[in-house]
Amino acid sequence: MKSIEEVKKLTSANLEAWNEVAPIHKRHNQADLLKAFASDPEYSVLDKIELKRLNVLEIEGKDIAQICCNNGRELLCVKKMNAARCVGFDGAQNFIDQARELSAAANLDVEFVCTNIYDIDDTYKSKFDVVTITIGVICWMPEVVEFFKVASKLLKPDGALFIYEQHPLLDMIEPGCEDAPITWEISYFDKSPYVEPEGLDYFGGEKYDAKPATSFTHTMSDIIMAGLNSGMTVEYFEEFPGHISNTWYNVESANIGFPMSYTLVLRKT
Ligand SMILES: C[S@@+](CC[C@H](N)C(=O)[O-])C[C@H]1O[C@@H](n2cnc3c(N)ncnc32)[C@H](O)[C@@H]1O
Repeated sequence: MKSIEEVKKLTSANLEAWNEVAPIHKRHNQADLLKAFASDPEYSVLDKIELKRLNVLEIEGKDIAQICCNNGRELLCVKKMNAARCVGFDGAQNFIDQARELSAAANLDVEFVCTNIYDIDDTYKSKFDVVTITIGVICWMPEVVEFFKVASKLLKPDGALFIYEQHPLLDMIEPGCEDAPITWEISYFDKSPYVEPEGLDYFGGEKYDAKPATSFTHTMSDIIMAGLNSGMTVEYFEEFPGHISNTWYNVESANIGFPMSYTLVLRKT
């Protein structure tokens, strides 16, 4: 178990790496996103799986927070589902700036707050009906119980935490392009942190002299138990073969029925 000081040190270093890559992601994505959000009121980046679960949670008229919202593209689409107050939290100022630019283009009233998730204070305590965590977030958390306690704190009593994430079993396999073989890399239970030395440009694959970014493996049972130990119960859990990361194209193309993503809904008790 890591101390909170250690967790903050590791995550602060990671946020420097995220801030550093944000202008590179912007070069790949922002122009198209700005155009789409400005011109098409129906535009959405949410896929069928995400939409189905959000519809079950009846987003309309609800107050929503997204933890690690990146450039805000997903939260803006949730706002378009007639959500009430929407607040996105991310620790990289450069991504928050992109999110504000997109919300202005879309003419949507969504708040974006730059903060390390572990530093969110009681200002936002019990303010949200639904908190979302999606695609490539949990692996950046050095530990999950304190992380889920933050999510639980944001929720109103009886609120729901919605998670749509890449499946932790994928961590066992060395990621690769479509024709790369499936190579078993680490044990499912390996807790060694992984330091990415070549940067976080998972859109363009650009390698650069990057600030180190450290990711962590958490098993499915670590994640579910962290939810249960943070004052929440499991309401829904489903695994899917669909690929939602920008990483394991080799597993997707092998088409071997490997679980690549999951949705998990935890309800605050
Ligand atoms: C892979 S991205 C999320 C992508 C997003 N779901 C999407 O599909 O657009 C991870 C995000 O988490 C943020 N992040 C990572 N660790 C964080 C922390 N400790 N506090 C706040 N934000 C963090 C990064 O800045 C980054 O924007």
